[in-house]
Amino acid sequence: MDVYEGKAKKIIPLDDGKVIMEFKDDATAFDGDKKAQFRGKGWLNAQISAHLFRVLEENGVKTHFIGIAGDNRLIVERLKMYPLEVVVRNVVAGSLKKRLPLEEGTELPEPIVELYYKDDSLHDPMINHHHARVLGIGEVELEEMERIALRVNEILREYFKERGIILVDFKLEFGKNPRGEIVLGDEISPDTCRFWDAETKESLDKDVFRFDKGDLISAYEKLYERITGEVPARR
Ligand code: TMP
Ligand code: ASP
Repeated sequence: MDVYEGKAKKIIPLDDGKVIMEFKDDATAFDGDKKAQFRGKGWLNAQISAHLFRVLEENGVKTHFIGIAGDNRLIVERLKMYPLEVVVRNVVAGSLKKRLPLEEGTELPEPIVELYYKDDSLHDPMINHHHARVLGIGEVELEEMERIALRVNEILREYFKERGIILVDFKLEFGKNPRGEIVLGDEISPDTCRFWDAETKESLDKDVFRFDKGDLISAYEKLYERITGEVPARR
């Protein structure tokens, strides 16, 4: 099985059904058009992802997470991934502003779930259930992914609220484990979520890099400290 290198992670398959996910210091935005490196980002994202996977597991959500395997590496169960990004939104931000006539920061009356087809050559287009079914993903599987995504939203929204942070939106990826169960995969980090400080509305996520809002590492460290209660060691 080959090592797969993505924009922000390296995926190293082991021969026992497990996989090492190595988080890189590289950051990209806007389909890879904007690129930079931030020393310590890989470590922060690995630790934050591990922490949030544990929170979800404690609340009964099945994930691929097994453990931390070194500074910027997690060990996870190998899944057969669906080529989908499942986005959940609580507050208007990002690309939703191009779809609905609502101001940034407006709280949505109910969460919105969106599906995107992961394909760089098509620029990850938004799709609906009809498109997904043509790609061979069944209705029952789609509904199960959306049900888990909304449950993840309930758990994490409350978890962050208690820590003075608004969970604005986030992206999840799912796969099937060898037992045929649909399980949460990939990462949950400030690269893949929007987090706003509830008081100041400052971004504690990759929008800092996308829109040049300040120092990315300071923002990610602030998030780490809020959720773990520990000051991160500078890498
Ligand atoms: P969007 O507003 O740009 O559509 O992003 C919605 C959420 O999904 C936001 O929390 C960032 C996350 N996201 C990813 O993790 N990967 C991506 O490629 C994109 C476009 C968004
Ligand atoms: N992750 C995507 C990229 O690297 C888009 C984004 O998150 O803004 O281009």
